[in-house]
Amino acid sequence: MKKINFGLMISLCLAIASCNNEQSKKETKEEMKTGITKSEWGTTDGKQVYLFTLTNKNAAQVKISNYGGTITSWTMPDKKGNTSNVVLGFDSLSGYLAKPPYFGATVGRYGNRIANGKFKIDNNEYTLATNNGKNALHGGLKGFDKVVWDADTLVDSVASLTLNYTSKDGEEGYPGNLKVSVKFSLSDDDEVTIEYNAETDKATPVNLTNHSYFNLTGDVKNTILDHTLMIDADHYTPVDSTLIPTGEIEPVKGTAFDFTKPEKIGARIDQVKGGYDHNFVLNKKDNSLQLVASLSDSISGRKMEVYTTEPGIQFYTGNFLNGSIKASDGKPINQHAALCLETQHFPDSPNEPSFPSTILKPGEKYHSITKYKISVQ
Ligand code: GLA
Repeated sequence: MKKINFGLMISLCLAIASCNNEQSKKETKEEMKTGITKSEWGTTDGKQVYLFTLTNKNAAQVKISNYGGTITSWTMPDKKGNTSNVVLGFDSLSGYLAKPPYFGATVGRYGNRIANGKFKIDNNEYTLATNNGKNALHGGLKGFDKVVWDADTLVDSVASLTLNYTSKDGEEGYPGNLKVSVKFSLSDDDEVTIEYNAETDKATPVNLTNHSYFNLTGDVKNTILDHTLMIDADHYTPVDSTLIPTGEIEPVKGTAFDFTKPEKIGARIDQVKGGYDHNFVLNKKDNSLQLVASLSDSISGRKMEVYTTEPGIQFYTGNFLNGSIKASDGKPINQHAALCLETQHFPDSPNEPSFPSTILKPGEKYHSITKYKISVQ
């Protein structure tokens, strides 16, 4: 029988124990840093509003409120390691109650415009609240961006937040009780994934999107005109003077709408009356999750990729921003201070039979995913 060296065994055990201890200390430290936290953020409509903070292992942070399902900030390091916020937003609920133009919000029941606020389903005509001249925009006077959602949080392999809201039959003129859930998650690869699910008890148009305004420099004093953009779309939907699609699907080739190869946003914006505020018809052929756009900024070295299951994307260059709203740091948010890439079905689809349908029927499940991934080059 071999002699057992108890001394050696004890030292080995001690070494393993101290190593495990180090490991668990490290894990606790990481657990504290990563995951999701919740804090009270005021009240409105007699309901408690919260701010949730999702943090990943790279210390990227996304803050989301259950008021409007709103992404209020997304902080990421730049190429020098300096962290800044790449989306427009406010530090307090009051900024949102002042009705900014959909900063970071979950937009619905129908993101984008419906002409004259009217549409028919099976010969029943519905009249919506109009809030954009004669048209209905982004769900109406009190769309999903202005309601308090119920919230559940989960820390699984990634931190995620699920928000639920039931939009009542007749709300803003839309038919059917619509149960909606939106799940936000932040991965350790710096991806924010937004997954939408909905069900209805009457046929209704549904078009959900997120209205984050991005400025990859992280400073609104820089416009987004020097950002470079690629959109994988050979076609777009031209619009009338009220931004309602004419129904045509036009090629982008040879126009200021051609972003099939990366182009500076400011290079041809003068050729587009009012600036870009158009739906691009994505080249993807099915509803799988695919890369459809990519945005980059040489000042910060940040690059953002957009993936979606949707057939379209509204590229909006913040044309209506005019300096009247101040960012949290007090700087005015001027025209072109940020841009939106709103993944969606096409505007006014309920009145354009040739566009992909947005009508959700009882028994069907609405499901849509969009992923924004930011990296540093
Ligand atoms: C969308 C619209 C724009 C504008 C903004 C909010 O992107 O397409 O025309 O209404 O929302 O200001």
